[in-house]
Amino acid sequence: MLSRRNFLTAAVGVAAATGLAACAKEDDGSSGSGSGGSKALVLGFSQVGSESGWRSANTDSVKAAAKEAGYTLKFSDAQQKQENQISAIRSYITQGVDVIAFSPVVVTGWDAVLKEAKAKKIPVVLTDRSVETSDESLYVTLVGSDFTEEGRRAGKILEKVIAKAGLKGQVKIAQLEGTTGAAPAIERAKGFKEVMDADHADDWKIVVSQTGDFTRAGGKQVMAAFLQSNPDVNVLFAHNDDMAIGAIQSIEAAGKKPGKDILIVSIDGVKDGFVAMSEGKINAIVECNPLLGPQLMEVVQKVKDGKPVERWIKTKEGDFMQDQAAAALPTRKY
Ligand code: AHR
Repeated sequence: MLSRRNFLTAAVGVAAATGLAACAKEDDGSSGSGSGGSKALVLGFSQVGSESGWRSANTDSVKAAAKEAGYTLKFSDAQQKQENQISAIRSYITQGVDVIAFSPVVVTGWDAVLKEAKAKKIPVVLTDRSVETSDESLYVTLVGSDFTEEGRRAGKILEKVIAKAGLKGQVKIAQLEGTTGAAPAIERAKGFKEVMDADHADDWKIVVSQTGDFTRAGGKQVMAAFLQSNPDVNVLFAHNDDMAIGAIQSIEAAGKKPGKDILIVSIDGVKDGFVAMSEGKINAIVECNPLLGPQLMEVVQKVKDGKPVERWIKTKEGDFMQDQAAAALPTRKY
């Protein structure tokens, strides 16, 4: 018979699972060789959403790597809502998966659900994005990029872009931020500002900055508003390629030339970003690699086996100027 506590836990789990089905897309099939033979490792993965080309490539990488490893993958798309991710994680806890991995949509608000996973002895691996937590033992490791460094790299590459374009005088920057409260939005802005404060306190200024939620539609809409309120911006720093691509549409609609009248630096390095760069519309891209699946599966296996793992497994990435785009485009994997 269920004790009151277990009953409540189960009830919460059922409610969570029901809610999850209602408000997020869950793909509960086995991608691994779960049938017959030894029991396949069961991985519950909660994805942020499908807001960008980067995210689609990341999802494909995770699914392919889980299949390759022979794991049973329970995958859920949270549609960029934290409550959906919390429901998915609760559902994985109720189902008793071996390991939970997730890419947190925002940094705060995870302690309660992570404590529930810990109480059930289910290890949690963060992938792509980090969380802020009062208890570091609530997750084992993070597999993902150094977003602060990406912001610094964007600042440094903008120096080269400005020099190459021969832009003189005040640099008036519009910043398209990622999802409010998300690690890449906070940390990329921070890294970029560090470069500004250290080396360009007098000649660079962020004149307008707002979230475009990492989407093309967001980038397009917010850039149109920026051009109305600040028609003299001469640089755009977009926290991802998709927002830059959306912004390019608004810049062109305003009768300006992206990459010339407004210099553009963005982050990610997805194929469409490289296409825009090879057309001269983006001046430089700081790469953020989404192909985290194979590394993630390796780590998940180690965690399941109780082997030690590094606290942060960082992704290796490069920077690209416009004149490298055409040559690099055919070799881009995402
Ligand atoms: O967390 C990684 C970021 O999320 C990528 O830069 C962006 O494109 C995505 O949506």
